[in-house]
Amino acid sequence: MSVCSERAGFEAEVQLCPLALATMQQEKIRSSEITPEEVYLSRRRVLRLGLWVAAQAALVNGCGVALPTDRQGAEAGCVDLRAKPNIDPRPRFDELGDPANTWEQITTYNNFYEFTMDKQRVAELARCLKISPWTVRVGGLVRNPRTYDLDTLRRFGEEERIYRLRCVEGWSMVIPWVGFPLRKLLREVEPLPSARYVYFESLFDPQQMPEQNRPFYPWPYTEGLRLDEAMHELTFLATGLYGHPLPPQNGAPVRLVVPWKYGFKSIKSIVKIELVSEQPRTLWNTVAPNEYGFYSNVNPTKPHPRWSQATERRIGESGRRPTLMFNGYEAAVASLYAGMDLQANY
Ligand code: MTE
Repeated sequence: MSVCSERAGFEAEVQLCPLALATMQQEKIRSSEITPEEVYLSRRRVLRLGLWVAAQAALVNGCGVALPTDRQGAEAGCVDLRAKPNIDPRPRFDELGDPANTWEQITTYNNFYEFTMDKQRVAELARCLKISPWTVRVGGLVRNPRTYDLDTLRRFGEEERIYRLRCVEGWSMVIPWVGFPLRKLLREVEPLPSARYVYFESLFDPQQMPEQNRPFYPWPYTEGLRLDEAMHELTFLATGLYGHPLPPQNGAPVRLVVPWKYGFKSIKSIVKIELVSEQPRTLWNTVAPNEYGFYSNVNPTKPHPRWSQATERRIGESGRRPTLMFNGYEAAVASLYAGMDLQANY
């Protein structure tokens, strides 16, 4: 039995990875919410022992993770994780009335496999990601191929969208993104009539992204949408969060957000967008096609082969809540899939 299925049986969040060497000990977030207290406490003891052993090993071998010190970090243009941004304190809600998760929750519990599979270490390991200069090449089947830098992307404007993000692993958050609808950019490059899909690629830089040195995944991280999905008004390119530039761990400097699909479709740190005629290969669909379909629309009636998708845990809440069809965006997007068998086209 894989680690993932053990954890599914445990009613905890599961790990996306089918190949990766995740361990139960990676789960550090609020285990008490899902586990009887005595079990939780004994797991904490095991965890603490594990951490102590790891610390001793690092001391003995002198082989701790080579993170820059704070001073070096500041000099190298790294994010100072202790500096909290000045956030407008007015409460924010999504259109269903659910409150936005806090900056701390959104920026300290992340999936960014290029850095680590440990959600709570992404911020630390990604904080020195070099995001300037940065370009996004947009080409393929378009009349006007273009390379955008961050200033030219800013021309598309900045608006706030408060979206639910539902991870395929079974957790969710409400996130106030800043950015612009992807279709503004696509219209500018003018897709040719033969373009039917949009392919996205994240940064490939093994020097900055340690997990890209390992053979587990076919890097770079890639994703894709059908052209009509990409042109949908809800499909968003985010450059910010809570009115501030995106922090590295959330996909700086520019990432996709497709709120009715499982979170892994929302690819981070994009460097390339290509219009293509055939359904593109994507990382998760290549690694495990039976588990991660090309569409990956949030669908509570279609279980993942190793766990149910009927409920989810909203980060910051205890217990689980029902998962909504298309993550609650059914009225806006169901017509994209009219006549399609959503059990077969998952
Ligand atoms: N994009 C890249 N390049 N690498 C990743 O590992 N993880 C995906 C998605 N985009 C991922 C990625 C997954 S599984 C999720 S759930 C979301 O990012 C998480 O976004 P967040 O960390 O901002 O909440």
